Amino acid sequence: MSRSRSRKPRLFRPPTDGDNLRCLRVVVPASGVDEAAGRLWLHEPVAIHEAATDDGRVALLAGFDDLATAAMVAGELPPEWEPTVETAPDDSSWRDNWRAFVEPVEVGRVLVWPGWWTEPPPERHDGLVIRLDPGATFGSGSHPSTRLSLAALQQVLHGGDQVLDLGCGSGILSVAAALLDAAAVTALDIDPEATLVTERNAVANGVGVECHSRSVQAGDGPFDVVVANIGAAVLCHLAPVIVGSIARGGRLVVAGMLSEQAASVTTAFAIAGLRLVSTDEQDGWAVAVLRR
Ligand SMILES: C[S@@+](CC[C@H](N)C(=O)[O-])C[C@H]1O[C@@H](n2cnc3c(N)ncnc32)[C@H](O)[C@@H]1O
Repeated sequence: MSRSRSRKPRLFRPPTDGDNLRCLRVVVPASGVDEAAGRLWLHEPVAIHEAATDDGRVALLAGFDDLATAAMVAGELPPEWEPTVETAPDDSSWRDNWRAFVEPVEVGRVLVWPGWWTEPPPERHDGLVIRLDPGATFGSGSHPSTRLSLAALQQVLHGGDQVLDLGCGSGILSVAAALLDAAAVTALDIDPEATLVTERNAVANGVGVECHSRSVQAGDGPFDVVVANIGAAVLCHLAPVIVGSIARGGRLVVAGMLSEQAASVTTAFAIAGLRLVSTDEQDGWAVAVLRR
């Protein structure tokens, strides 16, 4: 069996030699695939391709734009994963072949349905259906941090809330918030491709989302709910500005952090004035809900 996980292209793409990707190859036991993929995703590859090896293990091939990044990541990984760097042509199959492996994702009341499938979602589903095409952005619904964020969003959101989706990627959380009766949804992402894809997915689902290609800044808000699935380092760095954008009594959902990073992230938000409400984990990834 082989499958691919795709993610956004980088904002700044250095020239590559002959338009090749530098691929970091690791080989892990089948039980270690999610941990290895999680470690690789932290360094923002354009995609990760997985394939079974003859000896029953799984080879993960992570494509990077430049040799320096691939080599740096290789040096950080456990030697027993046998990290090696090789070259692969950067053709569209790298970024698009994940489509063949996508499956619908159900989280709470929300069913995420591949937007390019002609087959309609099952009629027996009595919750909300999001028809989503993430294109080259992050947020198909398959990643644990997206699923955790989607679950937490359903817990904290009330009809009529003003919502900020910080790091919107595909717009999956923005569209969910709008379908869950938020009064207004603002989607921010530093990747212009993400805001284009979010706009497209909002239109495809018949909801309005206000998109901007930038990060959160002083003066934004006040929002009743902020959801930010953007990674531990970025969350800690932005904590004071994010807190400044939340209304009194408002809720914050933070994700994109590994379980062992959760304490440092929630501490940064506690210092910035929030109270921790709950945490949850899935496959080594964590989400936290905080309140102002
Ligand atoms: C892990 S993806 C999350 C996508 C989607 N919200 C989800 O839950 O699947 C993180 C997104 O945050 C964006 N991002 C990273 N740093 C950011 C920042 N400082 N401000 C805004 N967006 C940022 C990335 O471009 C990426 O699209």
